[in-house]
Amino acid sequence: MSEPLATAIEDGTARSPATDHVSRLASERGKSIGGARTHAYDRNHVWHPFTQMQESFDLPALAIVSGRGGWLTDTEGRVYLDGNASLWTNVHGHNDPDLNAALQRQLARVAHSTMLGLTHPVGAELAAELALLAPADLGRVFFSDNGSNAVEIALKLSFQYWQLVGRPEKTGVIGLAGGYHGDTFGAMAAGDSGFFHDRFRPWCFPAAHFPAPHCDEWGGRVRAAEASGSLHALRTLLEKGAKQTACVILEPSVQGAAGMRLQPPGFVREVARLCHTHGVHLILDEVFVAFGRLGSMLVCTEEGVTPDFLCLAKGLTAGYLPLAATIAREEIFSAFLGSYESRRAFFHGHTFTGNPSAAAVALENIRKLRPLVANGILRTRIACFGRLLDEMFAAHPHVRQIRQRGLTAALDLAPSRDRDEAFPMSQRVGLQVCLRAREHGLLLRPLGDSLLLVPPLCLDEDELGELVHRTTRALADVLPV
Ligand SMILES: Cc1ncc(COP(=O)(O)O)c(C=O)c1O
Repeated sequence: MSEPLATAIEDGTARSPATDHVSRLASERGKSIGGARTHAYDRNHVWHPFTQMQESFDLPALAIVSGRGGWLTDTEGRVYLDGNASLWTNVHGHNDPDLNAALQRQLARVAHSTMLGLTHPVGAELAAELALLAPADLGRVFFSDNGSNAVEIALKLSFQYWQLVGRPEKTGVIGLAGGYHGDTFGAMAAGDSGFFHDRFRPWCFPAAHFPAPHCDEWGGRVRAAEASGSLHALRTLLEKGAKQTACVILEPSVQGAAGMRLQPPGFVREVARLCHTHGVHLILDEVFVAFGRLGSMLVCTEEGVTPDFLCLAKGLTAGYLPLAATIAREEIFSAFLGSYESRRAFFHGHTFTGNPSAAAVALENIRKLRPLVANGILRTRIACFGRLLDEMFAAHPHVRQIRQRGLTAALDLAPSRDRDEAFPMSQRVGLQVCLRAREHGLLLRPLGDSLLLVPPLCLDEDELGELVHRTTRALADVLPV
């Protein structure tokens, strides 16, 4: 927390909604629950994801013990704005009373019961709710528990469908360059995440990739866009190989893990049209972009596109619990029907498929999110976020490019905004800025030398201001101008 803010809280002059959150959390100071023990256990026993553990041993450790709204508190009582929405999941804030109550109601009934051979009211209701949200043709929901699995399931359903309708030669997959669909083998094969996954290529099935379109956009204005080369490449791939291709897969509108790479308006619709023309399934991976992140419940309905499969996770439970869904077209589902001996059934499932606790939270999330999307509150926050980014970074000497759509943004850092030049990798500039941001009471994650800003959707305008101002301060510490 910044010094002036801390003083304001202490002497009671802090009054903005942003600082109200902070002052409530600051009053919890001193109730630390064993930071030293947490760090010792962690250092000795935890293997963290996407982390060079050797490097992590030398970095300051931080353990989160509680949260409220868009704020998180560590074991030492320090308070941070959650600037990456706890890995792009958080919608209504941490410790939300409505989501807590929905979860507690479900826990009082049953925490978990399987969907293999049984069902439960919240799972059935959530499936109906998701079918209602999705484009009309998409009526059948297959639950799982993370985004990678939602994608694996869509791929396997596509492969099996073509076998079932007598087209077993349709096995190929086409993805978008830079695509990220998760870290399981099918998701890695369909994706194109460079050095994240290169090591595992020998075990991945081959997939073709077409170049991503280009779009610079922030503050609601497209500054430059080019999609014709990308669409031409896809058209060529389909003209040559649609007969052997099962599906095209992409993250619609924003490729998050590629560094918030944006697609120009109309791009997804054109991809869908090409897939339809060439008889190839379209899988839309909305694991990151759905549930309000871009201002709508679902990107496909906003774009007027009906995919064959839609993959959802992350914001589905507002960032509370692991749950994912793959929604398929009814016609695809019908192809799997038959007698047991016909062996048309889809033999896939996970132990916690459709977990009722997670389903109960997802239902409450959707109930709360609908009015935020419908009454323009989310749109106003997005406009404010765009304005703030424009004000603070459009002319920043070390911000070479901004990409923002909805409540998600990337700031590409460089030695100079005017030269096409990068910092040496060994300087770890992105990481250094994120470490300094912690000292300003802000949690961010870098992607190389890009800063990814992904706030919980609940942040009000003051809090969005805090996010942007604290980022600026961290930047100034590492890259003084
Ligand atoms: C678009 C997209 N698809 C799939 C995934 C994988 O989700 P999970 O980490 O839940 O497996 C991610 C994760 O960031 C993602 O952004």
